[in-house]
Amino acid sequence: MEVTGNLPQHVAIIMDGNGRWAEERHLPRIHGHQKGVETIREIVRAAREFKIKYMTLYAFSKENWARPKKEVDFLMRLLGAYLDSELKELETNQVRFNVIGRMDELPKGVQEKIRRNMQRTEHNRGLFLTLALSYSSRVEITDAAKRLCRDVHEGRLRLEEITEDRFQDALYTRGIPDPDLLIRTSGELRVSNFLLWQISYTEIYVSDKYWPDFKKEDFLEAIQEYQKRERRFGMTERVKLPHG
Ligand code: IPE
Ligand code: IPE
Ligand code: MG
Repeated sequence: MEVTGNLPQHVAIIMDGNGRWAEERHLPRIHGHQKGVETIREIVRAAREFKIKYMTLYAFSKENWARPKKEVDFLMRLLGAYLDSELKELETNQVRFNVIGRMDELPKGVQEKIRRNMQRTEHNRGLFLTLALSYSSRVEITDAAKRLCRDVHEGRLRLEEITEDRFQDALYTRGIPDPDLLIRTSGELRVSNFLLWQISYTEIYVSDKYWPDFKKEDFLEAIQEYQKRERRFGMTERVKLPHG
């Protein structure tokens, strides 16, 4: 299936609603997470097919560590299994794998698998797939500010040299264009500490479906809705985007 017209270059997704999907079926929440992995597979494939260049998936927030230990442990095991099972597919399909967030807070074994997957796919030039893990946008911004302060303090940078571009380069998303489209599933109208700097002018699309029920058709619908939007970036009429 090909999607034509003004494609979003970068799609970010807040994959929400796994727990409610399971609870509605009187199943433990972990079944929802398991089912959610299948959706990740389907949507990543669709992104490749639609020729999306960058996709960033919010998989685990810093705040999610406060969930019951049993659920957190399960999510970490599931993540490890995902990193193993997907490697081949990512490698052979030109997907470049990337992670943003406090990687050092993840279990050691998971960190190793992440590094392996990143290394094994670093030359791929198809979809650039980023997972946000142990991620907090406020931590990201605070860390960036600290790094720049240190550079000034130690004489590597002058205060006047701190520009928006420079700040952006100190974020985890250095080199990745800002998302054009942000999708959140399961109907919540909030951004939950995700890419706060980067979504300044991003179009937001909220689907009422729970993440495990979100299908390729729903993804396509979000893209088609995006294509109808008029992006203004503060100006008075539609802006011609370089990649549009
Ligand atoms: C999203 O689903 C997955 C993670 C945050 C890990 P939730 O687990 O938040 O599901 P709900 O929001 O409770 O339904
Ligand atoms: C956001 O979902 C985090 C992820 C999807 C990983 P949450 O379920 O944690 O967010 P809140 O608690 O509804 O804001
Ligand atoms: Mg949730």
